[in-house]
Amino acid sequence: MQEKKSIHGSWASRWIFILAATGSAVGLGNIWKFPYITGENGGGAFVLVYLLCIALVGIPIMVGEVFIGRRARQSPVNALTDLAQESGQSKKWGLVGLMGMLAGVLIFSFYSIVAGWVLQYIFSTASGALNGISSEAAGALFEGLLADPTTLLMWHTVFTIMVLVVVSAGVNAGLERATRIMMPALFVLLLVLLGYAMSTDGFSAGWHFMFDFDVSKLSWDAVLVALGHSFFTLSLGMGSIMTYGSYMPKRASIGSTVLTIGILDTLVALVAGLAIFPIIFSNGMDPAAGPGLMFISLPVAFGQMAFGQLFGFLFFVLIGVAAWTSAISLMEPTVAFLVERVGMTRKKATLALGTVAWALGILCLGSFNFMSDFTLFGKNTFDFLDYLTANIMLPLGGIFVALFAGWVVKEKFAKDELSFKSEALFKVWKFIVKFIAPVAVTVVFILNL
Ligand code: PHE
Repeated sequence: MQEKKSIHGSWASRWIFILAATGSAVGLGNIWKFPYITGENGGGAFVLVYLLCIALVGIPIMVGEVFIGRRARQSPVNALTDLAQESGQSKKWGLVGLMGMLAGVLIFSFYSIVAGWVLQYIFSTASGALNGISSEAAGALFEGLLADPTTLLMWHTVFTIMVLVVVSAGVNAGLERATRIMMPALFVLLLVLLGYAMSTDGFSAGWHFMFDFDVSKLSWDAVLVALGHSFFTLSLGMGSIMTYGSYMPKRASIGSTVLTIGILDTLVALVAGLAIFPIIFSNGMDPAAGPGLMFISLPVAFGQMAFGQLFGFLFFVLIGVAAWTSAISLMEPTVAFLVERVGMTRKKATLALGTVAWALGILCLGSFNFMSDFTLFGKNTFDFLDYLTANIMLPLGGIFVALFAGWVVKEKFAKDELSFKSEALFKVWKFIVKFIAPVAVTVVFILNL
C-alpha cells in the first residue's frame, strides 16, 4: 500500500515527534496540577496509584492513539470513521472524536486562565515584587490576583492570542525549534529548584509525603482523580496525541517513542512535586491548599534563595512555555477537523475555535470573583470543567480508544503500524487495550457512583 500523508504536514523526524508530543504532555498538568492534587489527596498512596495508571493504562492507550492517527493520517473524527469503515465496522466511532474535540475546548477554557496566572507571575518575579516575600504575603498576593477579573481577563486574552498565532501558522518549524531548547531548559531549572528544596529542612517531610504509602488516605474519588490525571497529563482521551501521531514519520517505532514520552512526562511531575512539597513543609504551609499551591509556595522559595529573582523569572517563563505547547495541542485536533471536513482555511478555523474557547474562559475566570456564587454540582465553573473533562470525558474517551484499538480495528492494521520486535509484546499490549484498560476505568467509574 502506498503511504498516506497528512494534508497538514508532518514532523521532520522521530525526535521532533517526541519533542512535540512531550511538549503537549508536559504542561500545567505536571507542574501545577499534579502537586496540588497530590496534596489534596494525601500524598504517597495517591502517587502510587497515579504511577500505576500511567504504566498500565496511559501508555498502552497512547500507543493506540498514535497508531490510529498515523494509520489514518487525519484528525480524530475522520481517522476513527475511516478506520472503522475499513475494518467493516460502524462509522459511528467517529463520535468519539467529536467528544474529544469538545473536551479540548473545555480544557482550554480553564487551562488558559491558569496560564494567565503564570504570565502574571513572570512579571511579578521580573519586577522584584516577590523578593523576600513571606508565605502570608504570597497567599494574599495570589488571592488578590484571583479577585481581579480585569487582570485575569487581560492575561487570558494574551495567552489565547499566543496560542492562536502558533496554531494558525500550522505544523510549525519555529515552535519545533523552540521546544527543542525550552524542554531541556525546563528540566534544568526544575533540577535547580529541586536542589534548593533538598537544602531546606522540609525535604524529608516532602519526600515522605510523596512516597510513603498509606492506604487509609485513599478514597475511590482519589483513585478516580489519579486515573483522570494520568489521561490529562499524557494528553490522552481527546485526540491531541492521535492528531500529533497523524503527522508522525512512518519509519519511527511507536512503542519506544511513546515510552520515552511517558517517562519524560512522569519525571517532570515527580520532580515538580519533590521541589514543591519541601518548601510547603519547611514554611508551615498547607499541602492541601488547592490550585494556588504552586503560586504561593514557589514565590516564597525564590524570594529566599540566591539569585531567586532570576531563577524565579526563568522558571515562570518556562512553565509558560510548557503551558503554551500544551494548549496548542488542545486546539490542533479541532482545527485539523475544520480544515478537513468543513473546508475552512486554517486561519479561519483557528480564529473561530479560539473565539469560542476564549469566551468560555471568561466563565472560568469569573469563578474566582464575579461568578463565585454560581455552582454546578456543587463546584464553581472552573472546578466543574476541570472535574468533568479530566475525570469523566478523558477516561471515557480513553476507554473508547482502547476498545477501538483492541476490538474494532483489524488486527493486521495494528500489527503493520506497531511492528513490535516481539510477538509477545504485541500480545501484552493487545490484552491491555482489550481488557485491562477498559475494565479498570469502568470499575473506577462505577465505584465512584
Ligand atoms: N497534558 C497537558 C498537561 O499536562 C494538558 C493537556 C491535556 C494537553 C489534554 C492536551 C490535551 O498540562
